[in-house]
Amino acid sequence: MSSLSSLAPKGALTLRGRLVQWVGNPFQDGPESLLHHQDGLLHAVDGKIVHAGDAQRILAEHPELEPEPVHGILAPGFIDAHLHLPQMRILGAHGEQLLDWLERYTFPAERSFEDPQVCADSARLFVDACLQRGVTTAAAFCTVHAGSVDALFEAASARNMRMIAGKVLMDRNAPEFLRDSAQSGFDDSAALMDRWHGVGRNAYAVTPRFAPTSTPEQLEASGALFQRKPGVYLQSHVAENQAECAWVKELFPDSESYLEVYERFGLLGRRALYGHGIYLQDRDLQRLSESGAAIVHCPSSNLFLGSGLLNVERLVGHGHLALGSDIGAGTHLSPMTTLSDAYKVSSMAGAPLDAFKLWWLATAGGAEALELAGVVGNLVPGADADIVLLDGEISELHAHRLHHARSLEEELFFLAACGEADMVARTWVAGQEV
Ligand code: GUN
Ligand code: ZN
Repeated sequence: MSSLSSLAPKGALTLRGRLVQWVGNPFQDGPESLLHHQDGLLHAVDGKIVHAGDAQRILAEHPELEPEPVHGILAPGFIDAHLHLPQMRILGAHGEQLLDWLERYTFPAERSFEDPQVCADSARLFVDACLQRGVTTAAAFCTVHAGSVDALFEAASARNMRMIAGKVLMDRNAPEFLRDSAQSGFDDSAALMDRWHGVGRNAYAVTPRFAPTSTPEQLEASGALFQRKPGVYLQSHVAENQAECAWVKELFPDSESYLEVYERFGLLGRRALYGHGIYLQDRDLQRLSESGAAIVHCPSSNLFLGSGLLNVERLVGHGHLALGSDIGAGTHLSPMTTLSDAYKVSSMAGAPLDAFKLWWLATAGGAEALELAGVVGNLVPGADADIVLLDGEISELHAHRLHHARSLEEELFFLAACGEADMVARTWVAGQEV
């Protein structure tokens, strides 16, 4: 297997158009955190950004560059920090809350991944579907089957997409056909980690589904796996649904909170990614702060399963924050739709997010949560050339609306609030258009 340098496409990419660049965190620094170059230029070589900024300035220093003019806004590729590969086939499955939905739709769908052909076909579809929507980095749950993880890393490597993924660990409270054991789960995860972690743009994520489906022994083994190699991730779910929270209390009567269950087994820390966090207790915010773990906000999923409304502002300053589609509980893979739902949920939760905060969650904020700041999520020299071209003028109506936008902020807010997948006009991964 090859290293990143040999996977990176050779050659240069030079684009000229409007360009946005993060220079701060909008939750701390406000609107000044995003720079807008009306006449911007981006130059990448062998998959890495070499120059990004004002076109006149860069061309004065590098008159040899011959940029391709583009219409729209050049922005960082999106980061989807929580989604489920096997659940593409149950998008929009009607009428259940989380625990029933898992039994009725999710577990049967995940069973199909016993078949290597299903793994291969689904992985290819998944990677293409992400890239078509501008998702250039993803943290994905596979199934309990090791083959589902091999297939996903293979498909991601073929497209050079940055993929964080792992085998689901589940040794109780799941159908027999989806259960592993603490030992077999450990062994399979360790072997996958050895095969894929750090190979190309792939990284391994230890993936205990959530506390109810793992015994204390398996959670303990997950903690050991999380420490097994530098840079390994951990992904799971926490405090998504009230019935789920009540169940965790029953299963772990000695724990003072849901998050404390994970803490007890060494499952918090930097690069620990937890979907949802709607019902975290106040004392859990301290745990997030101290550990540097991340909450991945999944607003579309929370609306669809009737889980509840996360107040993102409540978590600011406590650990990290990212955005996830959480398909198939989330109904859309496009981050444009997730952003739109994030705004609506924040509004319903009483603390509406502005344009900059929304975009940051899906780009640089996600990168920070994944400990990939400066690598993805921003168009700056040294970063991977993962780029989207946003063009909101997808119809006469949309062009009319944008014609009346009075500022970049208004334009970006419109793109987020009324976001549609088609607004991602083009996508480049490591400098190569896909
Ligand atoms: N909690 C445990 N498993 C899942 C899952 O597959 N989807 C969601 N949304 N929540 C979960
Ligand atoms: Zn999930």
